[in-house]
Amino acid sequence: MTTNNGFDLLHAHAQRLQGMDIPTLLAAEPDRVKRLALKVGPLYVNFARQTYDRTALDALLELAARRDVAGGFARQFGGERINITEDRAVLHSALRGDVGTTPVALAARAEASAVLTQMGALVKALEAGTVTDIVSVGIGGSDLGPRLVADALRPASGARFRVHFVSNVDGAAMQRTLATLDPATTAGILISKTFGTQETLLNGSILRDWLGGSERLYAVSANPERAAKAFDIAAERVLPMWDWVGGRYSLWSAVGFPIALAIGFERFGQLLEGAAEMDAHAASAPLEHNLPVLHALTDIWNRNVLGHATHAVMTYDQRLALLPAYLQQLVMESLGKRVKLDGSPVDADTVPVWWGGAGTDVQHSFFQALHQGSSIVPADFIGCVHSDHPYAINHQALLANLLAQTEALANGQDSEDPHRQYPGGRPSTLILLDALTPHALGALIAMYEHAVYVQSLIWDINAFDQFGVELGKQLASQLLPALQGEAVEITDPMTREVLAQLR
Ligand code: F6P
Repeated sequence: MTTNNGFDLLHAHAQRLQGMDIPTLLAAEPDRVKRLALKVGPLYVNFARQTYDRTALDALLELAARRDVAGGFARQFGGERINITEDRAVLHSALRGDVGTTPVALAARAEASAVLTQMGALVKALEAGTVTDIVSVGIGGSDLGPRLVADALRPASGARFRVHFVSNVDGAAMQRTLATLDPATTAGILISKTFGTQETLLNGSILRDWLGGSERLYAVSANPERAAKAFDIAAERVLPMWDWVGGRYSLWSAVGFPIALAIGFERFGQLLEGAAEMDAHAASAPLEHNLPVLHALTDIWNRNVLGHATHAVMTYDQRLALLPAYLQQLVMESLGKRVKLDGSPVDADTVPVWWGGAGTDVQHSFFQALHQGSSIVPADFIGCVHSDHPYAINHQALLANLLAQTEALANGQDSEDPHRQYPGGRPSTLILLDALTPHALGALIAMYEHAVYVQSLIWDINAFDQFGVELGKQLASQLLPALQGEAVEITDPMTREVLAQLR
């Protein structure tokens, strides 16, 4: 079937390349390992173990040009209301730098800078006080980013605060966290863009009651009045955010307050600088040297041309163990769409399932399936050149494993015994950070953010709304009274039956 989605030519390239394995591609293009490597600030990324050749990549770049990716970046950074279903600008770049120079972007930047200063003062005041533990309450974008970055960058010992995160409405999460803490030396941060999220409101109430009031309670919200009122929090302890910051793009805003407490305000600033460096790169690098663009086109190749249904992220750094969970929200909430901007059906598959884990642990769990399973799983392998611990041999072993796995997956190995045969042909992208610094992590996360946006431009979908999560939330709030014993009319027979069993 011929479609006008631009993938037909790419399919023809895939046909042409059929039977050409990764070692053959590497041999056929001697400059490949260098040509497909990009160095952007603290990141080195190599796409040589993907399965496109130079001509197929040119066709992918041609598609990106036709979809006006460069113009898309300009519209985003300039503060155009590209989130058309909610009529909002998308300006997380203004939280970390000045890549956008329009009056809208500059106004956002000024607001963000003022709040950053306010946040710095709160961090300083807390550091000077007697609080030892922080409990951060939020969910989704109000949790995953801060949780990832705080865990990745916190010092191995000697941190000023222990920062704990509670997201799930399951009371066991809050119970276990509070059981280890003393209310007299604990402060709480309630993070919710809307301040209407059930989980955060329920957990926030538990925390306030346990603290004995709101004196050591802080809030971050795009609805600061609601936050202050609902929890009786003094205005100077409520940090604002704005509707032009999407929840899953918000760790750079005051949503990052727990990060600044976990790693220090100065290092939070370095995180922002790293992201700003990636913004500047995305905005100015030509498509063929543009890291987020190449990452996105690689994902398009694997998803739309080769038809791979999942994408894995393997972090060869234990401190990045939460990255797959973070990326699941960033990528799948952004790109899990089935209609285009104009409401018509998308004429290609959109987001694959993203998943992953930390090497070397996962080598001993699901890697069997990656090497010999019947489905091919394209993967990002992420490691750090330098470690921050004193165990040099462990770091060398970690990197040896990273290299070994990517080579084995790509090249495979023949055997007369089919059980011992490795088919190879399993593509991966190698991502190396100089070291796990705030700057490098900021650049890495921003790279993924921009790659998400590029894919949304290719598919012509909105990466910045998430209406798909609403129906379940509505049903849950209708069912809660039924679980509390109220007579509620339930139309679904299965739900009615299970409720009867639960009662
Ligand atoms: O689950 C959907 C969602 O709206 C996410 O997009 C968001 O990050 C999360 O809920 C939390 O929302 P809020 O910050 O408003 O509490």
